[in-house]
Amino acid sequence: MALDLFSPVNLGSISLENRMVMAPLTRNRAGEDGVPQPISATYYGQRASAGLIVTEATPISDMAHGYPALPGIYTDAQVAGWKQVTAAVHAKGGKIVLQLWHVGRISHPSLLPNGALPVAPSAIKPAGQAFTYQGLVDFVEPRALETSELPGIVADFVHATKCALAAGFDGVEIHAANGYLLDQFLRDGTNKRTDNYGGSFENRARLLMEVTKAVVDVAGADKVGIRISPVNPFNDMQDSNPQALFNYVADALNQFNLAYLHVVEGGIHGGGEADPFDFVALRKHFKGAYMANLAYDKALGNAAIASGHANVIAYGVPFIANPDLVARYKADAPLNEADAETFYGGSERGYTDYPFLKV
Ligand code: PHB
Repeated sequence: MALDLFSPVNLGSISLENRMVMAPLTRNRAGEDGVPQPISATYYGQRASAGLIVTEATPISDMAHGYPALPGIYTDAQVAGWKQVTAAVHAKGGKIVLQLWHVGRISHPSLLPNGALPVAPSAIKPAGQAFTYQGLVDFVEPRALETSELPGIVADFVHATKCALAAGFDGVEIHAANGYLLDQFLRDGTNKRTDNYGGSFENRARLLMEVTKAVVDVAGADKVGIRISPVNPFNDMQDSNPQALFNYVADALNQFNLAYLHVVEGGIHGGGEADPFDFVALRKHFKGAYMANLAYDKALGNAAIASGHANVIAYGVPFIANPDLVARYKADAPLNEADAETFYGGSERGYTDYPFLKV
């Protein structure tokens, strides 16, 4: 029988009952000090029939925050909060990995310790505005990280990985996409460094490779995935030669034997027009499992799996509005519509109150 969305699969050491992944989705519902609340255990638990859940992007340190009410993964209280989430998902037989996030320049002093400047590869202010507790505020010019500070960034990823494992996650996903810190190092619109971390593809990919090696050393490669977004212009991003850069990145990641490579195949959030890019060619560079994301529906997901382009498909907005998306796709049942007003922040409404199919 041909493979489809409902075929089981292993991603590294993580065994999935089906190939529908819940994509990482920022929901801004954490409590004080970035502690996940019981309502988030309900939310993720409701979605446990996904083959795999990738959590919302989760800051790895105080300096990694860029939006209000994000849950963190670097304090004991945060670990305790996340334990309730992993327990709720595992109790229903689901699998869940945590997405490790550093926002880099996509932040604001009001969100950072002692009003610190956001950090970045280079001191280049993004166009646009930050979401702060005071509303939308113009971005500021970030501070370029010193070369001597980069081991500290790697150490923060390692600490967060240990916290994620302690919280019971099945693995971690390194966020190297969508214009956040690791992506800011990869793409040359944001990386103008003249040290070993700027210039050539090898240099721009160096921080990602160092982070990946360090995370793999603590978690095991079979529990680690990476997310990239080669041409997503969101967060004022660009690169002069994305195809060659990301083909290089995929080749270089082969050394690790990762659980999967997660690829955002275009532009998100109305961030503008994405440059042309051949994702089929990129996929051929990566030897492991490939997770495709962006605007897939059931038919497109099945086609991508049947053709061998993707091993699994990550669905975002459909999983916000349909906790039982897998059952709905299986039954060709109608989908609930998502309410964009309640995506970012708030409480139960638009979070845990979307109805399940009546059986
Ligand atoms: C967002 O909150 O808008 C956001 C967060 C993480 C992403 C993309 C967008 O990777």
